[in-house]
Amino acid sequence: MKKKQKQKFFQAPKGMRDILPEDQPYWDKFLKNAEELARDYGFSKIETPILEDAELFARGTGETSDVVTKQMYSFKTLAGRTLALRPEGTPGVVRAYLENGLSNLPSPLKFFYSGPMFRYEQPQQGRTRQFWQFGLETIGDKEAVLDVQIIQLCLRILKGAGLKKIDVQINSLGCSHCRSGFRRALMDYYRHRKNKICPDCQKRLKENPLRLLDCKEEKCQPVKSQAPSSLEYLCAECKAHFKSVLEFLDELEIPYFLNKNLVRGLDYYTKTIFEFWLEGENSENPLALGGGGRYDNLIQNLGGKSTPAVGASLGADRVVLAMKKEEVKASSGYNPKVFLVQLGDRGKKKSLKLFEALHQADIVAAESFSRDSIKAQLKIADRLGVKFALILGQQEALDGTIIVRDMAAGSQEIVPQEKIVEEMKKRLKR
Ligand code: HAM
Repeated sequence: MKKKQKQKFFQAPKGMRDILPEDQPYWDKFLKNAEELARDYGFSKIETPILEDAELFARGTGETSDVVTKQMYSFKTLAGRTLALRPEGTPGVVRAYLENGLSNLPSPLKFFYSGPMFRYEQPQQGRTRQFWQFGLETIGDKEAVLDVQIIQLCLRILKGAGLKKIDVQINSLGCSHCRSGFRRALMDYYRHRKNKICPDCQKRLKENPLRLLDCKEEKCQPVKSQAPSSLEYLCAECKAHFKSVLEFLDELEIPYFLNKNLVRGLDYYTKTIFEFWLEGENSENPLALGGGGRYDNLIQNLGGKSTPAVGASLGADRVVLAMKKEEVKASSGYNPKVFLVQLGDRGKKKSLKLFEALHQADIVAAESFSRDSIKAQLKIADRLGVKFALILGQQEALDGTIIVRDMAAGSQEIVPQEKIVEEMKKRLKR
C-alpha cells in the first residue's frame, strides 16, 4: 500500500518572523509613543518604498560597507533593473527629499518614518533578516544643537517605552578632510601589526580600515585598544563642533561615554556618531538599540547640493526584546466594560444587534457568540474583568427584556431591552 505523505507546513523565511497579537502591545507602546513624541519635536512623517534602486544604497550606505557588500537582498526585475530591499531608511529619505524638490522648502526639514528593513545577516537573538526601524532625519542644518536634539529625542522615546537605563556611546569621525589623516594613521598602525590581527581584519585593512575598530575577535583586542583615535585627528572646525555637542549634552545632563572605537557600519557618517546601548551591554559584542550620526556629504553624493544632515534609527525588535527583559507593562488597549451573554437562536439574533447599539454608544462590549453555555460565557466575562454581563436568553428575547448582572456583587436585575443602552451609560458613569 502506498504510504500517505505527511504534508509539511510552510515556514517563514529564515531570519524573518511573525509578530503575533500577544506581542503587539509592546510594538504599539513603542511605536505610537515614538510617533507622538517625534511630532511634538516638529518631525513630519515620511514613507518611502521598501524597494529602491540598488545603486542608491551602493552610493549612499557605501560600496565597501558590510550592509551593501554582504547583506543586501537585491534582484533583477523583468525589465532588467537591479532593485534592492532597503537595508536601512536614510538613503531612501534623501532620495525622496531630492526627487520631490523638498530641498526648496525652508531648512531644516525634519522627518520620521518607521517600517521594515532587510539585511541578510546570520540570525541570532536581536538580529534578524527582516527588522523594524523607527527613524529620524533632520536635513539642512549643520548646527551641533540638532545632533543633540536627535539624541535627546531618541532617549525620550526609549524612556517612553519603559527603558530607563540607556548608555549613550559617542564619538566623532570628523569631516572627509580629517578622516583621511586618521585613516592613514590607522592603516600605518595596523600595517605594523599585521601578524597580530585576524584574517578578517587583514581584509578590512585593505578595503575598509575604519571597520578595524569594530572587530570583535579576541585576538585583535590588544591591538585595537592601542589604536589611534579619530578624535586626535579632528580639524579645528570638527573639534569645535564635537565640543559643542558634548557641552549641549552636559547642559541637558545627559551622561555619555566617549567611545573611540565607535565607527558605525555605514559609510556616510561625518562628525558626530552615536549609539544607544542598554546599560551594562557587553562592549565586545553590543546589540545597540539604535544609532545614528551626522551625514553632511550624503545629499551631495546622491546628486543634491551640499546639505548637512543628522539622524538616527531605533531598532524596534531590539527595543521590544529589552522591554520584555525589563518586564515593562504593555496593554492591548482592549478594555471591554460589558459582556454580552446569549442563549439560544433568538437570544443570539438579538444580541448581534444589541452589540452594535452598545458600540454606537461608545460602550466597548465583548462577546463569545460561538459559545452556547452560559457558564462558559460568564467565565470569559469574569476573566476579562467586565463590570456587567448582559444576559439575553430565549425567554428574554421573547419578553423584550435583558438580565443585567453586576459581576462584582453577583446581583441580577431585569431591564427592558429598549432601555439597556441608556441604562448602561448611566451605570458605567457611576
Ligand atoms: P544602523 O545602526 O545600521 O543605522 O541601524 C539602526 C538600528 O537598527 C540598530 O541600532 C539596531 O537596533 C537595528 N538593527 C540593525 N540591524 C538589525 C538586525 N539585523 N536585526 C535587528 N535589528 C537591527 C541605520 O540604519 C541608520 N540608517 C541610522 C541613521 C539614520 N543614521 C542617520 N540617520
